[in-house]
Amino acid sequence: MDKLLIAGGRPLEGEVRVSGAKNAALPIMCTALLTESPLKLTNVPTLIDVRTMAKLLAQMGVEVGAQSAGENEGGLELRARAITNPEAPYELVKTMRASVLVLGPLLARCGRARVSLPGGCAIGARPVDQHVKGLQAMGATISIEHGFMNARAERLRGAKIAMDMVTVTGTEHLMMAAVLAEGTTVLENAAREPEVVDLANCLRIMGAKIEGAGSDVIRIEGVSSLAGAEYRVMPDRIETGTFLVAAAAAGGRIRLTGAAPGSLAVTLAKLREAGARIQTGDSSIEIEMSGRPAAVSAITAPYPGFATDMQAQFMALATIADGTAQITETIFENRFMHALELQRLGADITIHGNTAVVKGIERLQGAKVMATDLRASASLVIAGLVAQGQTLIDRIYHLDRGYEALEKKLGALGARIQRVN
Ligand code: EPZ
Repeated sequence: MDKLLIAGGRPLEGEVRVSGAKNAALPIMCTALLTESPLKLTNVPTLIDVRTMAKLLAQMGVEVGAQSAGENEGGLELRARAITNPEAPYELVKTMRASVLVLGPLLARCGRARVSLPGGCAIGARPVDQHVKGLQAMGATISIEHGFMNARAERLRGAKIAMDMVTVTGTEHLMMAAVLAEGTTVLENAAREPEVVDLANCLRIMGAKIEGAGSDVIRIEGVSSLAGAEYRVMPDRIETGTFLVAAAAAGGRIRLTGAAPGSLAVTLAKLREAGARIQTGDSSIEIEMSGRPAAVSAITAPYPGFATDMQAQFMALATIADGTAQITETIFENRFMHALELQRLGADITIHGNTAVVKGIERLQGAKVMATDLRASASLVIAGLVAQGQTLIDRIYHLDRGYEALEKKLGALGARIQRVN
C-alpha cells in the first residue's frame, strides 16, 4: 500500500497548473447516458474516481475512450449508442458514492435501472433519500431489495420538487433525470455549487433547457432528445484551495494557473484574513505568505459559504497559526477524523460537538499518521509540509481518489515529498 513520506520545513515556490474538477467531471460523465451521440470532454482529471466512473459506464454498454493526457489535457470520449446493462453493482458503488448518479439518466434513457445503495461513508451516513424522493415525484417506482434500488419509469414526467436540505449530487441527479422528462421540473432549495452550474452548462450544449442553475431554484423543461457535445470541465476549486492553504501554511510564493478564482471567493477571503497576500487573474491565483498565519475561524455551509471540502485543510493551517481558531462542520456528522491524526503531530485540538477548537502552536512534530478520507489526507499532507522532521502518511489511496499526482505537483514547488510503498 502506497505511503507519502514528507520532510517538513520548506517554503513552497513556483507555478503549478490545477486539474479539472472531480466533482464536475463525475456527473458530467453520466450525461453520456442521455444521448446516443458522442460526448467529448477535456480537462478531465486523471483520478481513481474518474476511472471508476468510466468502468461503471463501460459495463453498461457505454463506449469509453482511453483518457488522453498531454496536449488534449485530460481528454475523454464517451458514447452510449445503446445501454446493454442498466445496472450499477455494489462492488463499484461502495467505492464511489457518485455512482448513484447513473440511476436517473438510466431511467430517462431506458426506463429501468438496478443500482446498489451506496452504503455508509467515513464522513457520515450520507443517505440518498432526496435522490429517491425526487425520482419518485417524477413518476419512477423504486423498490429497495437486497441492497439495490430497483427502478422503473415508462417516461419520467416533470414535477415540482422541494429538497429537504441542500444536496449537491441530489440536485445534479434530478437535473439529469429532468432534461428528457415530459414537461417542466422545478427544483426548489437546489444546490448552488459551481459544479452544478458546470453540469447544467454541458447539458445545455447538448440541447437541454435549463434555467436558474447556480441559484436555489432550477427550472428544467424536458426535451425529446439530446445531442452530443464537446465540453471542457471546470477547474477543481478544492484542489486550488488545497494548494493555497499549503502555501499559507508552509510560507513562500506560488502561482496557480488554469484556475477559476471566482469559484473560491470565501477561501480567498479566509486566506487573506490569515495574512496571505493574494493576486488573482482571469485563470490564475498568486499567493505569497511569510511568517505565521493568523488564526482564522470558519463554519462550513453550502455554496457560496465556506466549503466543507476545505474544512480539513484549514484545520491543518490553524494548528500552527498565531491564536485560537474555531472550526465548525455543519454539513457532515463525522468529518473531524483528521483532527485525531493532527494531534499525533502535536496539534492542540479540542472537539466540542461539531466544533473543533484549535490552539495554534509554533511547530508540529513529524510522525506516522493515517489518512481516513479524501480531504483528511490533504490535511495531513499540509501538516507534513510544516512539521519538523519526517511525516509518513499511510492509506493514501484516499488522496489518489481526488488529487491528480499531488506529490509531483508539490515536489515541483520545492516540497520534499515522495511516494513510498
Ligand atoms: C458532494 O457530495 C461532493 N461530492 C462532496 O465532496 C461534498 O463534500 C458535498 O457535496 C458537500 O459539498 C461530489 O460532488 C461527488 P450532499 P454529496 O448531498 O452530494 C445530506 C469530496 O471531498 N443528504 O450535498 O454526497 C448528507 O448526508 C466529496 O470531493 C441527505 O440527508 O453531498 C449531507 O449531510 C466529499 N439525503 C448533506 O445532505 C440526501 O439524499 C449534504 O450532502 C442527500 C444528502
